[in-house]
Amino acid sequence: MAGLKPLWLGLKFILQALWFLRYSPYALWYSWRRDQRDRPYRSATAIAPTPVGKGLGASHSDRGVQIDFEQASLELVFLTPDFVRVTWQPGRLPLPYALADRDWPAVATELEERAKGWRISSPDLTINVGWDGGIAIADRSGQLIRQERPPQRRGEGWQHSARLRDEECLYGLGERAAAFNLRAPVAPGQPKTYGFWNYDPGNIYQPGTDPMYISIPVYLGLHRAGSYLVFYENTFRGELTLAHGGADHSPEPSATATFEAGALRYYLAVGAPPLLLERYTQLTGRPPLPPRWTLGYQQSHWGYRTEANLRQEVQTFQAHDLPLAAVHLDIDCQVNHRAFTLDPQRFPAFPQFTAELAAAGVRVVAINNPGIQHNRHSNLFLEGQILDAFCTYADGDLVVAPVWPGRSVFPDFTNPVVRDWWSRQFAYLLQAGVAGFWNDMNEPAAFVAWGDPTLPLATQHCLEGRGGDHREAHNVYGLLETRSAFESLRRHRPQMRPFVVTRSGWAGMQRYAWTWTGDIVSTWEALRQTVATLLGLGLSGVAFCGSDIGGFLGNPGGELYLRWFQMATFTVFYRTHSAISVGHRAPWTYGEPYLGILRRILRLREQLMPYLYTLAWEASDRGYPPVRPLFWLNPSDATLWNREDAFCLGDALLVCPVLGQGLRSRPCDLPPGDWYNFWDDTRSSGGQTVELAAPLEQIPLLVRGGSILPLAEGDTLTLHLYPPSPDSQRSAAGQRLYSDAGEGYGDWRIDHWHLNQQGQTLTLTWQSQGDYAFPYGQVTLHLHGPALGQAWVDGQTAAVDGQTITCQTFEQVRLQI
Ligand code: GLC
Repeated sequence: MAGLKPLWLGLKFILQALWFLRYSPYALWYSWRRDQRDRPYRSATAIAPTPVGKGLGASHSDRGVQIDFEQASLELVFLTPDFVRVTWQPGRLPLPYALADRDWPAVATELEERAKGWRISSPDLTINVGWDGGIAIADRSGQLIRQERPPQRRGEGWQHSARLRDEECLYGLGERAAAFNLRAPVAPGQPKTYGFWNYDPGNIYQPGTDPMYISIPVYLGLHRAGSYLVFYENTFRGELTLAHGGADHSPEPSATATFEAGALRYYLAVGAPPLLLERYTQLTGRPPLPPRWTLGYQQSHWGYRTEANLRQEVQTFQAHDLPLAAVHLDIDCQVNHRAFTLDPQRFPAFPQFTAELAAAGVRVVAINNPGIQHNRHSNLFLEGQILDAFCTYADGDLVVAPVWPGRSVFPDFTNPVVRDWWSRQFAYLLQAGVAGFWNDMNEPAAFVAWGDPTLPLATQHCLEGRGGDHREAHNVYGLLETRSAFESLRRHRPQMRPFVVTRSGWAGMQRYAWTWTGDIVSTWEALRQTVATLLGLGLSGVAFCGSDIGGFLGNPGGELYLRWFQMATFTVFYRTHSAISVGHRAPWTYGEPYLGILRRILRLREQLMPYLYTLAWEASDRGYPPVRPLFWLNPSDATLWNREDAFCLGDALLVCPVLGQGLRSRPCDLPPGDWYNFWDDTRSSGGQTVELAAPLEQIPLLVRGGSILPLAEGDTLTLHLYPPSPDSQRSAAGQRLYSDAGEGYGDWRIDHWHLNQQGQTLTLTWQSQGDYAFPYGQVTLHLHGPALGQAWVDGQTAAVDGQTITCQTFEQVRLQI
């Protein structure tokens, strides 16, 4: 292997030199032109803030209140008793790109004029608005949850600051290469700013890079008195600055959001974290249930180039007896990196190829970038020109910027006609058997010699007919491209569920697509970062996400690849992917013992499928992310607030990835409850730190006492019963299992098991709903923890084999321990 290193370095150098020769002259020219076009957008003088003035009067509306201030107006609208929309104007209201269509039933509120302002209350929230525009929000028990300073108008935009408590933690903001608790790096004198501007960091993405591909102005705040969620519905460029208070010139810790333009509209929910995610996704939509195969392992590499190489890849998976759900085609499979193309010479019989793969259970996912080659010999370019589909400047000139296909133009996805046109382009690839689409470079990214790697701010957009510039449209560009792809799949393959992956997005993107954490480097720090990034995405409503296993940029080495793979086994999007400039990477790359270990972990993933699929269904039903922080079920336990080196998959599993070279054990802070070691059943009580063994072949994995873990093996479903310890406060456990055909919109069923413990007897009951036939031929019960004595299935004595009994469907099982 060592002898190959100089070869790689040489190849990397050649590729970089080729890139430089091909793109850099135009990148130089484009960067210069962009700066010229954007000159009017660079304001030399700092804009002085304007206060909203004094409150003049309030009027009660059917679900809230309208208050006039000397310089502004404030509207409070309750969507539910614990969820309120706040709008400060002037400023243009956002187009509802983030929002799911929904009617909100009326909420009864009361308005009261008080000595220093007004009080608006619903059954769950009390909001005090001061004469000066300051707002204080208290929960049902009267606890103060959030205190906001009067907002200030800044030029065309707004600045809005909220006081933070010393211990308060903030999470979310979309995709961040930061600490999971976004306040964690904030120290006296060092405020931390997170940008709201989708951004392709190129080859320099590593822990600390900000902003990233997906910035969503939503955060969840957690402190001793409770938790809340704030979502700023403003697509303009902005930022959130977290100040520590004291030495950095701010008198108290604060979170200050600034937006360059637009009304100051935000939504605020108060409650426990699961409820906050429910509310946020009620507003911005829930991820639709994906086809079941998408939860399997997917293999990708930028560099397959030909059908023959891909066939070889799939055959190697088969030869090594490794499960494989999908392969991805990157831009090297296209003709000159052009969207919606595939090189017919390199893919000579593509429909037959996709059919051959489908017969082996392997789907094909194809990439597309939004940049369209500026080329009069391209139909896509000509069609777009005729439809006036591409972004222009105010003088009508096309915006042309360099990206993978060379000089490119960019569809204006804020135009419904363009979304419709774009969505029609997918039809032939669907006909050729492509099962899913991968939208890349849709920040949108452009190659630059300096400055912002995107379109000029002066770029004009349709914005549903009302017009506007790139400052407003930039952050929703990827969201709307993805919407078009999703709608295309719904339209052209209405009987199938769409699978779309996107690199960029904004609030509401979960309605259309999954995402992955982009071009991260192959280092141990990056692996650690990935856990924090995925947790943050989940709390930003993006439930279905993952990372390039092993990292995108670099050759990770067997151990790092293995540890990354083990971690990713418990995340939703389970894909190896790597750059063209690094070595091809697949489970067999590092030989034994890695291959054997990876085969076993891939099998475990297959066994976990019923659990994972149920979590995916739960995300589509409630908005809960499958990958959850440790505090999800215990938000009052402050020791868990900063935990970013472990995560829960659903409520039953606690995953403790190994995040360093050579480590063979690691500590884990256990949340309250009882915890069973998945590998050897040893039981530990929560609320303490335990050292967990982590031999190379094992990722430390714990199961919460009081869980029923459904695992599948062929035709057999095994319910692993982990009873709570007799002295714990939980005496019952429940698990739902969602099943359907795995594709389409047909029948479904939900099986619900409930385990009750009374003295030495465990009673397991089974209820179900839905019309889909139970998909397993045999059910096995496996009791973990106490020794299993006798067992009765629906009153009949059952044969006990060690800790297990085997049965068919039942209504009630009694286990004597
Ligand atoms: C971008 C993507 C990466 C892809 C590459 C080539 O860097 O993030 O996943 O392989 O483009 O298409």
